[in-house]
Amino acid sequence: MKAIVVVDRKLAIGRSGGLLFRIPSDLQHFRRETLGRTCIMGRKTLESMPKGQPLPGRNTIVLSKSMPEGVFWEKDGFIALAVGSREAVYRALAEFALPEAVVCGGAQIYRLFLPDCDELIVTEVEDEADGADAFFPYFQGEFELREKTESVEENGIRYKIARYQRKTDETEPADGGEPQAGSAEDGEP
Ligand SMILES: NC(=O)c1ccc[n+]([C@@H]2O[C@H](COP(=O)([O-])OP(=O)(O)OC[C@H]3O[C@@H](n4cnc5c(N)ncnc54)[C@H](OP(=O)(O)O)[C@@H]3O)[C@@H](O)[C@H]2O)c1
Repeated sequence: MKAIVVVDRKLAIGRSGGLLFRIPSDLQHFRRETLGRTCIMGRKTLESMPKGQPLPGRNTIVLSKSMPEGVFWEKDGFIALAVGSREAVYRALAEFALPEAVVCGGAQIYRLFLPDCDELIVTEVEDEADGADAFFPYFQGEFELREKTESVEENGIRYKIARYQRKTDETEPADGGEPQAGSAEDGEP
């Protein structure tokens, strides 16, 4: 599973239920990364979409304990459905044979699924937004940078797109598994 997000320098992602930055070229990037796939999002992020509707051209699974469970939207062969738990997301992916899941936020949903993600696609805005109230979880300890674009500027906003991959066991210290030769003989009576 992968997640896609736009963050500022302090990992802020939102303010008052909306996004912090309007970057049309980044919206195109989001579109390319999610089209034909399955967006996993929280009820508040769904409400922040145009007309509070799922985005066309992709499937959407909305997490909510307040929405009725089940399919509530269908268009061009894509569906959106509401589920009431993290486990129900996996059941829905299997039951409806939905393609590749992409975690699309917001803060609560990123926190819930970060442990299941092996890739993060992070638009890193080179700025600090005022008044942010939603944040992406700290992830740098568990993920390593795989690639990063050059800095791009649009609407006076500079950003780079970075791809991070979950660290593997191979990144543990090289001597971590070595037996402590001689310690028993040296230390024990
Ligand atoms: N920068 C970005 O890339 C980006 C991306 C997406 C969103 N955002 C921003 O993030 C902010 C929204 O984030 P948020 O954390 O406030 O809201 P959110 O994660 O979008 O949605 C929270 C809602 O999800 C439901 N939920 C959470 N955990 C659940 C669970 N375990 N089981 C079932 N339902 C669960 C609940 O809905 P009910 O209350 O209905 O039960 C909860 O109120 C907005 O400002 C938005 O613009 C930013």
